[in-house]
Amino acid sequence: MLVTQQPVFRRFWYPVMPRQRLAEGPQTFELLGESLVLWLDQQGQPAAVRDRCCHRTAKLSLGRVDQGRICCPYHGWEFDPSGACVRVPQLKADAAIPAHYRVAAYRCTERYGYVWVCLEDPLLDVPQIDEAEDPNYRLIQEFYEPWQCAGLRVMENELDLAHPTFVHTETFGSEDHPTPDKLEITETDWGIHVYGTLGVVNPELQQQNLKMAEAQTLRTLEMDWLMPFTIKLKITYPNGLVHIVVNTMTPISDGCSQMVQFCVRNDTEVDTPAAAVIAFDRAVTLEDKHILESTDDDVPLSLSQEEHMFTDRPGIMIRKKVAALLKTQGEAALQTH
Ligand code: FES
Ligand SMILES: [Fe+2]
Repeated sequence: MLVTQQPVFRRFWYPVMPRQRLAEGPQTFELLGESLVLWLDQQGQPAAVRDRCCHRTAKLSLGRVDQGRICCPYHGWEFDPSGACVRVPQLKADAAIPAHYRVAAYRCTERYGYVWVCLEDPLLDVPQIDEAEDPNYRLIQEFYEPWQCAGLRVMENELDLAHPTFVHTETFGSEDHPTPDKLEITETDWGIHVYGTLGVVNPELQQQNLKMAEAQTLRTLEMDWLMPFTIKLKITYPNGLVHIVVNTMTPISDGCSQMVQFCVRNDTEVDTPAAAVIAFDRAVTLEDKHILESTDDDVPLSLSQEEHMFTDRPGIMIRKKVAALLKTQGEAALQTH
């Protein structure tokens, strides 16, 4: 399955850019092969339209923002957040602007410090992360970068409790725990919920971050996959510390996804500086990135194309649910091999 070949993926919300970047001026982002220009309107709300002027196709993102409108850098036409051309400098002030002078506009909103975009009629709302809005927790922005791999591979990876022993050798993977002690999967309307426990190594940086001196510890994991490319990974440690990773792999193209990750914790900056939390999670994500970028972009939904083992049950359920989603939309999963 290739993401740009399945129109249903256009009907989900994705985080496309940290909101603060829009303060620097218009920005461009490619979502599912569609070039967008993002900017802030006069009320400070994010706007997203196609990054191609309807006059002579220049990229609007090379222009500037004036009174909440995006101004084309080529001949100065101005577009509002609805995509309508509202000023043509070459026309007399009282001349009407033809209604067909417009560019495609997309749904756009702000959540968790990010601008989220949905290209077409959304099937779901932006993922709800209760703890991110709970005053007992703090939100730490972590990563925003392209990964050269399919988002579905990353979703499976996060629910795959057999990979830490081999991939996370410098961070938390434990040779003594090649498989989870518990792995329970429940289907939800738009995803799956996985409960698991896994013994892990607790290296020095993590001992400080977790305020736990033991060399080994146990992760209790409550993991939610939310269609199609968001994972909420809630890790609870024996001392009560909760570390929640929220990761969306925003689809750029078939072989490239924007890795967007923040974490939510029930401790404070005085307990553990955000920089130390990020440093550990950075090491973990780079271990995953190295392997995931070596995988095939085309993720088969049919189970006959790759081999499986019992720890793959969450990933198999993800593939089945995506296949069922495509079926409800009348889409066949296109396969390149
Ligand atoms: S190409 Fe945009 S105004 Fe001419
Ligand atoms: Fe991993």
